[in-house]
Amino acid sequence: MCGIVGYIGKKSPLPLVVQSLRHLEYRGYDSAGVAFLDANNELSIFKSTGKLINLENILPVEIGASIPVQPLQTKPAASGGVAVAEKPPEQDIPKIAIGHIRWATHGAPNETNAHPHVGGKREIALVHNGIIENYFELRKQLQEQGHVFVSETDTECVVQLLEHIAASEQDNFITVIREALKRLQGAYALSIINKNEPDKLYAVRHQAPLIIGVGTGETEGEFIVASDAVAIVQHTDRLIYLKDNEIAELSPQGIKLFNLEGEPVKPIIEQVSIGPLQIDKKGYKHFMLKEIYEQPDVVRNSLSGRLIASNEPIRLFGRDEDALSGKNQETLDLLTSVRRILVIGCGTSFNAGLVGKYLIEELVQVPVEVESAGEFRYRNPVLDDQTLVITVSQSGETADTLAALRMSAEKGAKILAITNREDSTIAREADAILPVRAGVEVSVCATKSFTAQILVMYLLAIAMAESKKSYHPEQLEHLKSELFKIPALIEAALSKTEPLQALAKKYGDARDILFIARGINFPVALEGALKLKEISYIHAEGYSGSELKHGPIAMLDKNLPVISVLVAGQVFEKMISNCQEAKARDAQMVGISSVDITQKPELAKTFDDLMTIPETHELLSPLITTVPLQLLAYYIAEHLGKDVDQPRNLAKSVTVE
Ligand code: M6R
Repeated sequence: MCGIVGYIGKKSPLPLVVQSLRHLEYRGYDSAGVAFLDANNELSIFKSTGKLINLENILPVEIGASIPVQPLQTKPAASGGVAVAEKPPEQDIPKIAIGHIRWATHGAPNETNAHPHVGGKREIALVHNGIIENYFELRKQLQEQGHVFVSETDTECVVQLLEHIAASEQDNFITVIREALKRLQGAYALSIINKNEPDKLYAVRHQAPLIIGVGTGETEGEFIVASDAVAIVQHTDRLIYLKDNEIAELSPQGIKLFNLEGEPVKPIIEQVSIGPLQIDKKGYKHFMLKEIYEQPDVVRNSLSGRLIASNEPIRLFGRDEDALSGKNQETLDLLTSVRRILVIGCGTSFNAGLVGKYLIEELVQVPVEVESAGEFRYRNPVLDDQTLVITVSQSGETADTLAALRMSAEKGAKILAITNREDSTIAREADAILPVRAGVEVSVCATKSFTAQILVMYLLAIAMAESKKSYHPEQLEHLKSELFKIPALIEAALSKTEPLQALAKKYGDARDILFIARGINFPVALEGALKLKEISYIHAEGYSGSELKHGPIAMLDKNLPVISVLVAGQVFEKMISNCQEAKARDAQMVGISSVDITQKPELAKTFDDLMTIPETHELLSPLITTVPLQLLAYYIAEHLGKDVDQPRNLAKSVTVE
């Protein structure tokens, strides 16, 4: 999704801004741009479509691989991309700049719609993440007042509005911003420069993340604004997480923070330990493949300190659980007394929540509902202080999940966040956090984070069952001893790539593919279909095997592959029957099974292709069955030559509704 970087300080800002934008690239975008004040104090703006490299090619300075400390050399004009300003001469190296990568929401991904946007007088420029919901009315009003719009974006109305208010407002620019914000509806993170205040960079946040990096020592008086800490932490570990409706004025003299009423707010600087983002494929062709292969270590890492021994209780919050205080202790207490659980997430995180439902209801006998955050937030759900709301989010910034969290908190529910980003807004606003410890996930297509999320669900369910004494202790002990074996079983599943590559070739040109499973693997079928459609653009759907006969079976013919996930246990025979029903309609049946069906000729004839995967306890099986479906989606997308890591139209972190 869109990414913001802004800089004010003594360094050459363009390389710094563009290099920092590179850390946000993995999130998905379709155009990029920068704005800066040149030595004549004029706004210069460069934009291009496509990847950041297109922008780099038209900039007046070399961007380089790392931040240069010496003054920059200008380089000859490059071709490609569209510059919308004259290049400044060498001595015009600016000290203040803003940059943006755009994921189009309003208007096509072209240079005109790319950010930064500038007002008609070319005095103010800004970059924006989020959506201005009342942009249409604002645009109309401003047009009636004589402002000429050049883009189709919602963002342009913000900069035109600022310029409009600034024209009549004799007060300072903070007042102008405050007045403008009062007229905006929707979500926005903004970084703004104003040629009339050349030593100031402004940052504003409302329901979209924005963070300020604060220079120290030699870099005192330097500030970096970004929509994600990963774009800042290679420069400083001192961060200010802006709160909603806070306005920051950054200058070499320091930071001033204001609320919407113009009252000063004390900035809280936090020292963080987030490492710089490692954008390294480590020899793999794609990040997705690398991340799939990281899963055994992700599981080991996530179990570490939490699963000590099969005869010891799970320590949800790690080895130091005895010393728990405050919110985490309250959450642990609530886990024992809770009467109802609501799991909320989107996409893959929603599917992880569904696995959690099967588990918690089985082990803990507490009712669990799972709901898409985007639907939940527009209902009037019944919640109270005996309801635990679990928000599941890899990024911790998904707009719908965050809104659902806030609504739940307002209604008195306690919030437990299962997230991969402990520094995210969702993590910061939850009552307690269970980090999934998957490490940074670069590929837009979530893989290792799903496995890590469901692993945390297992730990949570077992911990709850232990504290509530709701399940047979020897069964819990057995589950825990089986959990220890999961990393090796995932490794075994990962070693079986040939059959999956063959399946990818055989079925990769299909128009539609169905995924079926039952019981706790039903969410795995949903997730398998989501992976496939996301990166291959093949239409895919996940169903419970039992649902086929209620509609989807009408689609079956010899051109429709049906990928079925079968594991030994309660629903194996049921799944076999469902597969036979599908085979009777000529569907091309692929069986991915923990039971070696090749050894059962009477069953084997149901399937056109069979693949055996490692067996584990039925309840734990999603940790294994997920793996071949991830690999299958990957190999099909690769077979089709798709952009695996940055599929079209998608973004890693969906910070707009
Ligand atoms: O960061 P989140 O887990 O909240 O993101 C939710 C979805 O946007 C995400 O899972 C999406 O479905 C993935 N691209 C799936 O691979």
